[in-house]
Amino acid sequence: MAKEPLRTDYAGELSAARIGDTVRLAGWVAKRRDHGGVVFVDLRDVKGIVQVVIDPDAIPAAHELRMEYCISVVGEVRARMDGTENPDMPTGAVEVGVAEVTILSASDPLPFMIDDRADTEELIRLEYRYLDFRRPPMAAALRARGAAVHAMRTTMAEAGFLEVETPTLIASTPEGARDMLVPSRLRQGDFYALPQSPQLFKQLLMVGGVDRYYQIARCYRDEDFRSDRQLEFTQLDIEGSFWTAADVQAMIEKAVAASVKAVRGVELPIPLPKLTYAEAMDRFGSDKPDLRFGMEIVDVSSVFAGTEFKGFGGALESGGVVRGINAGALGFSRSGLDGLVSDAQALGAKGLAWLVLEEDGTWRSPIAKFLSEAELAGLVERFDARPGDTVLLVADMAKVAGAVLGPIRLQLGKPEGHEHLAFTWVTDFPVFDVHDDGSLAPAHHPFTQPVSLDDMVERPETAIAQAYDLVLNGSELGSGSVRIHDPEVQAKVFEVLGISHEEAQSRFGWFIKALRYGTPPHAGFAVGVDRLLAILLERDSIRDVIPFPKTQRGIDPLTASPTRVTDLQLRELGIDLRPEVKARLTEQAPGD
Ligand code: AMO
Ligand code: AMP
Repeated sequence: MAKEPLRTDYAGELSAARIGDTVRLAGWVAKRRDHGGVVFVDLRDVKGIVQVVIDPDAIPAAHELRMEYCISVVGEVRARMDGTENPDMPTGAVEVGVAEVTILSASDPLPFMIDDRADTEELIRLEYRYLDFRRPPMAAALRARGAAVHAMRTTMAEAGFLEVETPTLIASTPEGARDMLVPSRLRQGDFYALPQSPQLFKQLLMVGGVDRYYQIARCYRDEDFRSDRQLEFTQLDIEGSFWTAADVQAMIEKAVAASVKAVRGVELPIPLPKLTYAEAMDRFGSDKPDLRFGMEIVDVSSVFAGTEFKGFGGALESGGVVRGINAGALGFSRSGLDGLVSDAQALGAKGLAWLVLEEDGTWRSPIAKFLSEAELAGLVERFDARPGDTVLLVADMAKVAGAVLGPIRLQLGKPEGHEHLAFTWVTDFPVFDVHDDGSLAPAHHPFTQPVSLDDMVERPETAIAQAYDLVLNGSELGSGSVRIHDPEVQAKVFEVLGISHEEAQSRFGWFIKALRYGTPPHAGFAVGVDRLLAILLERDSIRDVIPFPKTQRGIDPLTASPTRVTDLQLRELGIDLRPEVKARLTEQAPGD
């Protein structure tokens, strides 16, 4: 049995200053070298690793130690022998000469090595997530996440924000994604929805006079997976009354800067830069522009006004544009350039024209022969082209040009990793996304204040909302808006969205009713905590910064969720599976 106290010191904190002291350490066997006459163990605890040296003649249990056994040792801190110090280890100047070993808990053979060098398949890491936490990258991610969230909480609390919890069993609300549903047992046939965000509840808090709200909130959306999406994820969610968009942005900048400081140790220069949505689309072909590099989209329509080249002239005559990027010294072969043309076509372009500036100042290009001297010179000037540069041009409607050049710009210029952090606000979003078939969908949730109600009703395609996003290195990190606080405006917005009065009343009449009781003007924002952490820690996926994530297929390999439930459980809920589902389940073994 271990004696009290179970631990006097952390293994990872021992140093030459402690030489001569007797310590009791507790942790895991990270490495074991059994030389017969002497056993070396790297003992790991939450703070790091120290080498312990055991004489198996005195302590026969030393031969029983295996990887990841949980042990406790008592011994004396001593200097390592000359020449055996390890400068790569923070504790590398010392070792512990062990007088007593207690095996607290044995370990089965490991499914993978607890080692930051080992490249283990993600499914296995997730199945044994508790072992994954012992590996340095995951341990570091957990610590960084904790530090970032702590910094957010401190910043918000110091600014006078009240943390209020909102429910996770709510009524289905219209926020854009598919709701996750939970059947009610007490009211069979009725369902709770899990919140896509605390949106309506935080607005109710404003009606209730809370004034300044924040929450580290769990959100649930039944959406298709990507590396930056999960079924459940976390937001730093804030809302304030008598607040402008600028107030919201300044507060979010403080909270984000505090997290950057906590994780990266650097001061983020604030205020952060701002771009309007229209500028972002024109210059970067994206509403989440990656500003770590230039290669901006340049409009050269004026260079081709009255051009003889039909490919461009036709596009300009039908109200389109000629736009392009200077991709720099690409040095692509003909087949590389042809590959870009196919990429552009896959993105919806009719064509992609490429021009390479030769040493002698002429353009090498399949379309050079169709262009006038003035047009060719105009391209050199507008793209500030140097010999060796490749210019890529698209002639089409502005929307298509952006949709093609934006991704190509990323493909050719996007840096690896996230060493550099390029934040930007994107403001003045449109009220609606216009789909190719002309139908409208709200670009943000339908509680967002339009700049002008008349515009929204009369010119919905071009109407602008008081909505803004925060973007980091080409990812959407968060979004927010000034909210509608007038019930008449809210009703009008639903109407324009094609949500009938009856439907609005039946689905969120409770919310519209609340707006009738002296609602203060209010605004807010939500930052995706998982996305922020993934970028700050330079991880490829948010799964690497979420303690217990789901796989791309929505499965948790650790608990095997989602799982089947018993007939009795279903009966209690008043639920009968559809015949085709039942048939499939009988064919499949559980867990398939
Ligand atoms: P929005 O829907 O834009 O706004 O969400 C805000 C931020 O949350 C993150 N996020 C996600 N992260 C991981 N997995 C997901 N499936 C996922 N979906 C969203 C993103 C996103 O920018 N209530 C509003 C905010 C407001 O208006 O105050 C909202 O939720 O980083
Ligand atoms: P065409 O005359 O259609 O065969 O086109 C000649 C060249 O112009 C090809 O290299 C095309 O890729 C390019 N081109 C044609 N249409 C466009 C367009 N809309 N945008 C950019 N390049 C185009």
